[in-house]
Amino acid sequence: MDALTLLRQGPVVPVIIVNDAAIAVELAQALVSGGVRVLEVTLRTKAALAAIRRIRDEVPQAIVGAGTLRTRAQMEAAIDAGAQFGVSPGCTPELAAAARHSQLTFLPGVATVSEAMRAYDEGFAIQKLFPAEAIGGIALLKSLASPLADLRFCPTGGIDLQKAPHYLALPNVLAVGGSWLTPEQAIIERDWARISALAQAASQLAV
Ligand code: 3PG
Repeated sequence: MDALTLLRQGPVVPVIIVNDAAIAVELAQALVSGGVRVLEVTLRTKAALAAIRRIRDEVPQAIVGAGTLRTRAQMEAAIDAGAQFGVSPGCTPELAAAARHSQLTFLPGVATVSEAMRAYDEGFAIQKLFPAEAIGGIALLKSLASPLADLRFCPTGGIDLQKAPHYLALPNVLAVGGSWLTPEQAIIERDWARISALAQAASQLAV
């Protein structure tokens, strides 16, 4: 699945931090039952790769990817675990080459015009804009629309249910990312109903 198809699956990509792989399947099922299928599990915890593997094996309705990829080795480990896409907060030549080589659907992170141009030159016309709110958010995306007319973004960082519609209304935004669908406390309490409700509200946002 290419990046365009991936980001057309829904308006919001949840950015997920899993500390215990044992809850990964229930967490993924809660998101899927709320209408959110594309799940980004960040490689920020020891449990992340096992969580990706379990979701891939046991939640076939989900499209599970690995986030916070910073090295080629992490990308390879994510692919081994079954990740169907990868996301990075940035983009190094090593990561770009690894993504091309593996043919993993990859969203490189960019924060400036030059980074966006470099990632485009590396073959990535669809990019994660990160950290969106901190670097200019809506105003920045509006400024990029004309000079970088053939680029599309998934802004992430500081976005919530209230801010998301303003991003999604922009023509150069395909989807937004955010951690608000999977609050740490809800995961600790295994409050799957709350996570499903958050997913449902997110999945109903208009693109
Ligand atoms: C990310 O990890 O991609 C972002 O930190 C998510 O940002 P948020 O927690 O502000 O949604």
